[in-house]
Amino acid sequence: MPPKLELTTAVPAAAPTLVVAITPGSDGAVLDRRAVADIEAYGTDPAEMVALLARDSVKGNPGDIAALPAGARLVLAAGFGEQTPRDARRAGAAIARRLKGVESAAVTAVRRSPAAQVQALVEGLLLGGYGFKVTNTPKADTLASIAVVVEHPDSMAAALRAGVVSATATRLARDLANTPSSTKTPAWLGKQATGLARRSGIDVRVRDEKELRAGGFGGIVAVGMGSANPPRLIELGYTPDPAIAVAGHVVLIGKGITFDSGGLSLKPNAGMIAMKTDMAAGGAVIAAMSALRDLGVRVRVTGLVPAAENMPSGSAQRPSDVITHYGGTTVEVLNTDAEGRLVLADALAYADAELDPDVIVDLATLTGAISSGLGKRHAGLFANDDRLAATLIAAAAASGEGLWRMPFVDDYRAALESSVADLTNVAVRGGKEFSGGAIVAALFLREFVGRRRWAHLDIAGAARAEADEHEVSKGPTGYGVRLLLHWLSSPDPLRGLR
Ligand code: BES
Ligand code: MN
Ligand code: ZN
Repeated sequence: MPPKLELTTAVPAAAPTLVVAITPGSDGAVLDRRAVADIEAYGTDPAEMVALLARDSVKGNPGDIAALPAGARLVLAAGFGEQTPRDARRAGAAIARRLKGVESAAVTAVRRSPAAQVQALVEGLLLGGYGFKVTNTPKADTLASIAVVVEHPDSMAAALRAGVVSATATRLARDLANTPSSTKTPAWLGKQATGLARRSGIDVRVRDEKELRAGGFGGIVAVGMGSANPPRLIELGYTPDPAIAVAGHVVLIGKGITFDSGGLSLKPNAGMIAMKTDMAAGGAVIAAMSALRDLGVRVRVTGLVPAAENMPSGSAQRPSDVITHYGGTTVEVLNTDAEGRLVLADALAYADAELDPDVIVDLATLTGAISSGLGKRHAGLFANDDRLAATLIAAAAASGEGLWRMPFVDDYRAALESSVADLTNVAVRGGKEFSGGAIVAALFLREFVGRRRWAHLDIAGAARAEADEHEVSKGPTGYGVRLLLHWLSSPDPLRGLR
């Protein structure tokens, strides 16, 4: 359980831990006048903290932390760096990690900061302490509450709420991705989405394999047919309250491969272990959808999660099979491990043909290639509209998620030509693998969006972390939830995009 956060105007007398801010100065960490006063009021000598900072050469950069025992209590000095939202978020995460084992704390570091910093601190506090364990001997999570001290609680209530909602949804996305695939079948994911939809005031429809077959969703059916756990298409619908609604419709699509063994084009073991998280994007879409009403989002949003388990078996699709996608496009499957684009193609074509969106945004752990260029903390953005690209990049920057625009290299499209179908699912040239895998995958998806304004986020790198780092914890990161919610909760997310 994450700690409960509340806004107060003063440090509660009973708080066992006080957290103050430090910032980097030319001569080491700076403890400002207010922090000094807070430490004094707490009954501790600020000179002791100053000495500790000097002794341990703590600089005040985000992530830095110094802990001074004060009898049975504790004073923490946390680095707030440049005092930007990004640094406040990182400070929050470091504080949360250091507070493990402490029951409650009061943070005075954002007493007079702008709302964006308060929100970011809250996100860090709730995300830094995240952990997931399947265990029959649970340990109590002791951090029960954190008081955030601000001058005017009323004016910061919306920031607190936005931070709590966004971090809670991110934690939910992490939980979904962390769940082992033996539990997390496509049907299970559909049930989770259904329960969440009921609790968060949104509509839900889960199509089963029969409906998918009858409905012409040939990509989802083909990818799912090797598994004993049949595929689903999860469709979530949010309609804003008429009092706040503005015109426009956004469709979010998230790849929901509950396990990617590669299928008959089997992955090696090492590459397979992480593939329980191949539904991270689908989980992010489900989690984001569940937060829209809480955030008072003003546009209509539909979420689509094509969910399937990619397994090898006697009923699996074969390399060389030809499948027919929603809308009729045929694809020659040359590699069953390029399955994400097959399930996404159906969802994109369905959104274009049936949902009349102003904007489609898909997220997918689509290619290993994206992290060759961008590394693990940036996702790749492909967009056929410059304003949409700029909007998403701004939302990513504000919410602390890395995003970098990639090109559609039209010349590479020729490598997807098939002699027996409209397209191949992987680029092969002269029997050799074609490079630029993330671009080729985006070009494949582009064939299914019609004339819609569309963006594709390849989150294969950003969806997982090898180690705890700032607000990201080892394992699934929940990437995408914060940037989607930041974008969609703006006053008019479709400004210039209708
Ligand atoms: N789910 C993988 C992509 C992936 C790889 C995500 C590593 C996270 C970490 C995807 O389905 C896949 O297997 N892609 C192939 C595509 C190739 C067969 C064209 C890849 O990236 O190797
Ligand atoms: Mn694959
Ligand atoms: Zn995959």
